[in-house]
Amino acid sequence: MLKKWSAAVLSGLLVVGALSACGGESDDAGSGKKDDGKITMGFAQVGAESGWRTANTKSIQEAAAAAGIELKFSDAQQKQENQIKAIRSYIAQKVDIIAFSPVVESGWDTVLKEAKDAKIPVILTDRAIDSKDTTLYKTFIGSDFVVEGKKAGEWLVKEYAGKTDTVNLVELQGTTGSAPANDRKSGFADVIKADPKFKVIASQTGDFTRAKGKEVMEAFLKANPKIDVLYAHNDDMGLGAIEAIEAAGKKPGVDIKIITVDAVKDGMTALAAGKINYIVECSPLLGPQLMDLAKKVLNGETIPQRVLTVESAFTPEQAKTELPNRKY
Ligand code: AHR
Repeated sequence: MLKKWSAAVLSGLLVVGALSACGGESDDAGSGKKDDGKITMGFAQVGAESGWRTANTKSIQEAAAAAGIELKFSDAQQKQENQIKAIRSYIAQKVDIIAFSPVVESGWDTVLKEAKDAKIPVILTDRAIDSKDTTLYKTFIGSDFVVEGKKAGEWLVKEYAGKTDTVNLVELQGTTGSAPANDRKSGFADVIKADPKFKVIASQTGDFTRAKGKEVMEAFLKANPKIDVLYAHNDDMGLGAIEAIEAAGKKPGVDIKIITVDAVKDGMTALAAGKINYIVECSPLLGPQLMDLAKKVLNGETIPQRVLTVESAFTPEQAKTELPNRKY
């Protein structure tokens, strides 16, 4: 664990430090933390629900190793109670810093107050929380999911510009209560509401997984004879839905237009093949920035409360060019 030095006492303690150096690890006064000069980060991950998440986990693990940060990693299997348990265990282990990607937006105040009382800083990555108390975390690094939903809606509006027939839409939502599901839904709805020809005839969660995406799309197809467009909150659900559409004898990308979010390799491959029509990018490569921010927080440096990820969007033609460079 890293001992937190204040600049004022640092110089005065140099002599003491030199004396104690031969004694091995020292104890961080009062906190019980061992000072071995190493940063320990506890990271509570959402799960392994999608290709995006797998790439995000890899990015965090590789970046921690490259930055010399000891990483304690846990997978919550998309359950908030598991994440809360993991955070409590990191507090008990007296890690230097905690980072996590909250499964859902609500219900974090109690455990984050426990971390604050234990003087362990917290960084949110990827997903936001809806707490009013912004002192519970140092910064939030990740995408703007509302903007992602808006980009999806804007593509749709352009695609159907000048057409007057009703456009029947179905929506595969992400995990219920999660920030990306809430925001991608509202951003999209905000853009398409201006034109009454767009009708969302079914909207249900597919929990961000391929299997659930397929299952829910099968039900959508059975209940609705005319579906023009599918909007899936991530690539994996879109890819599951493609299997259901093909099994129903329809051509994905042609009979049913498909918009997804993420731009992982599998999604981009389907886009290049014309089975998906548009993908809004959401970058999972948050590891290097996270480690950098963690070091700054522990050094007492001022960091911005919000760090936005830079992202793009792709058509099938752009996917063909981008695919060979795709890292995840
Ligand atoms: O929070 C980011 C979202 O979580 C990704 O878009 C999705 O694929 C993942 O499961």
